[in-house]
Parts: sequence; C-alpha cells; structure tokens
Amino acid sequence: MPQRPYVLLSCATSADGYLDDASPQRLLLSGPADLDRVDEVRAGCDAILVGAQTVRKDNPRLLIRDPRRSARRAARGLPTHPARVTLTATGDLDPQARFFAPGALRLVYCATPAIGRARARLGPGEDSAVLIDAGDPLSLDLVLTDLAERGVLRVLVEGGAQILGAFLAGGLADELDLAVAPFFVADPAAPRLNLPLAPHFPSNPNSPGSPMTLAEVSRVGEVGLLRYLLGPGGPDHRFLRWAVELSRLCPPSASAFSVGAVIVGEDGEVLATGFSREQEDHDHAEEVALRKLALRKLAPGKLAPGKLGSADPRLRHATIYSSLVPCGARASRPVTCVQHIVAAGIPRVVFAWREPRLFTDGEGAEQLRAAGVAVTEVPGLASRARAVNAHLVGSGA
Ligand SMILES: NC(=O)c1ccc[n+]([C@@H]2O[C@H](COP(=O)([O-])OP(=O)(O)OC[C@H]3O[C@@H](n4cnc5c(N)ncnc54)[C@H](OP(=O)(O)O)[C@@H]3O)[C@@H](O)[C@H]2O)c1
Repeated sequence: MPQRPYVLLSCATSADGYLDDASPQRLLLSGPADLDRVDEVRAGCDAILVGAQTVRKDNPRLLIRDPRRSARRAARGLPTHPARVTLTATGDLDPQARFFAPGALRLVYCATPAIGRARARLGPGEDSAVLIDAGDPLSLDLVLTDLAERGVLRVLVEGGAQILGAFLAGGLADELDLAVAPFFVADPAAPRLNLPLAPHFPSNPNSPGSPMTLAEVSRVGEVGLLRYLLGPGGPDHRFLRWAVELSRLCPPSASAFSVGAVIVGEDGEVLATGFSREQEDHDHAEEVALRKLALRKLAPGKLAPGKLGSADPRLRHATIYSSLVPCGARASRPVTCVQHIVAAGIPRVVFAWREPRLFTDGEGAEQLRAAGVAVTEVPGLASRARAVNAHLVGSGA
C-alpha cells in the first residue's frame, strides 16, 4: 500500500487572516514575486487540489506559468503540468470552468450521493475529468490514498477556506506555506483561515500545546512568507520529512543517490538546506548545506576545501537531518560527509535511510558514532527516502 502523499497547504492571507474579501471579484493578496514562488512550488508537485467553491468563484487555471519550469518537468519524464484535483459534496461543477480545460489530468472526488449529478454535468467524453466516488461523507483519507495509488507523491492544496480547514483539522497536512499580505480586510463576511471544530474534526492537532514547527520566515516582494512544518512526531520527525522532500528536487543521476539535508540550530532555526547536485555535479546534500552556511560568513573564494562548516559557531550545537545516512566512503570527492560533519563540530545527526551497498561500502552511522556524534535513525521514514531513489534500488522494500 503506497503511503499518503506529502500534503503542502499554500495560501495567502491578509494581515488579519482573510483569504479573500466578500466582493464577487477575487482579491489579490500576493504580488508578482510571490506568484512566481508559488509557480516554483507548483512545478515541484504532482497534483494541485482546490475546493469546488474555489473552482466556481475564482475559476483558476492551475497551470505552471513559466514554460522553463514545465520543460524541466518534461525533461524528468513528468507531465508538463501537475494533475488538477477538486472535491465536491454536491457535484455542482461547470464543465466549462478552466479547471476542466485540457492540458493536465483532472480528478474530481465526489461524495457518493452526488456521483450521478456530477456524471451528468461533466459528461462521458474521452478527454473528460476522472470522477471518483470518495464515500459518504467524502473522506479525505480516501482521497489521499487514491492519489497515492495514482502515483501522486506530493500534493499542493491551494484552498479555499473550507478545504484548508479540513486538511488542518484532520491532521492531514505536512507543511503550511502562509504568505501574509501587508493589509487588513476587516470584513467578517469574507472567508478566512478557519478550523471547523465540528463532530468530524473534534480536536485541533496544532493547538498552543502542540504547535507547528516554524521552518522559514522570509520576505517575498511585499508579503511575509511563513513556512510551517506539521504532522506527527514533533520537530525531529518533521525536519527529517522535509529533508526527504528536498531530495525530490535533486537533478536525476544514474550513478548517485538523491538526498536532502537540513541543518537546524539549537534554537530550532533552520541554518541551511541542501540537496544532491544542487550546485555542482558531485555535490552531496550535507556538503551543499554546509557550503551555503560557510559562504554566508566568508568572502567568495576564501572557502578552504574540507572546512565547509568551520566558519559558523552555531554548528557546534546544531543537528543535521539527512534523508540518507551521511557518506562514510566516497568515490567522487576526497572528503566524505562524515568528515565534513565532524570537522564542522556538528554534535547530532538524524537520518532516515541506511545506505545500501550500491556505490560504496561506507558505514556512515558507525563512523559518526565513533567520532562522538549522536546519531538517531528514523526507520519509519526510510521507505520515503528510498522511494525517491527507486530508479537505483528498485521499488521493493
Ligand atoms: N487566499 C488564498 O490563498 C485563496 C486560495 C484559494 C481560494 N481562496 C478563496 O477562498 C474562497 C473559497 O473558499 P470556500 O471555503 O468558500 O470554498 P473551498 O474550500 O474552495 O471549497 C469548498 C467546497 O469544496 C467542497 N468540499 C470541501 N470539503 C469537502 C469535503 N470534506 N467533502 C466534500 N466536499 C468538500 C464542497 O463543494 P460543493 O459545494 O461542490 O459540495 C465545498 O462547498 C474564495 O473566496 C477564494 O477566493 C483564497
């Protein structure tokens, strides 16, 4: 049984938490820079999901705007655009909506009682949307399981309010990217981020007692971007899961693993991230993250080989999360990731997948422990890290 996809919720709100105003026109909450950021996020996903009300009201295209991003997907053997997904309890969908335009796979998950109505509206055409009975009432678990069975590893949920609230309240989100616009809407009639604490969703999985994990705070044009990690297991599990997601961004290689890494400081601040081959052909993920950090401290060209992390004292109390155990032997470069980590003084490593003996015999975990580094293995995430490398190691367990 495939695991459920990584669920990334993405939305823009006003400074007082509104997702739109109450007028019939769509309120633009993010500017060109943030729309471009979302385009990049879309390009890294297999499916984009919105609620039927957003299809009716905003009539979104849900396409990748930048043709270079679509071309990059095509070069990886992916469809040019992610699949479009919507949910409906009533089946009240207009086949003329842009959601149903050709160019991407369209999936409509419909509550059982409305299947007949939806079928009548959408028609049986060869190129029509795929209509899926998602239970009565519609089950988000069923939706995610079905998406996984269709090969969707990463789904971007773009709203609206009801859909975002349902994923959050159901504890089904792994990440929330919240873009906050520099103005207020101040209209109680407008939709806002709202958790429906109804019988279906009796508790708030991200209450003050179990907060989300803040992974990024940045400025994108005029909006403030907050990236939160959610899901079970607390920060360790969440950062590692994120590292696994980063591994999906690696340029493909037939002779090296795809790995993601995140370095987190003692206070929970993300110091740097990296993925294999992010900057140069033979890059390992840990090496890229350490290099980024070192380059922030040093003038360009002043970086001594083998001294990637030594410039930043925060590394002496940091944890590095890596989807694959850091390498203890390496054919491509003279310094292994274990040596980089030890040289940087990083005291703790958390990883998901033990390296199969495919390219080297390196015993990274054992070498780290021998050097006094605390090592935590999270085997529960190994299959996700491995799945990204299925072209090298097969898809079996
Ligand atoms: N700022 C942003 O980032 C952003 C992004 C997207 C949308 N928006 C705004 O959000 C507003 C729309 O939000 P909304 O809350 O009204 O609608 P929505 O979340 O887009 O869609 C709600 C609809 O989705 C279907 N649905 C949702 N959960 C379901 C479930 N568990 N089972 C079955 N069907 C389910 C139902 O469709 P049926 O009615 O067909 O049964 C429901 O009416 C618009 O104003 C839009 O502009 C803002």
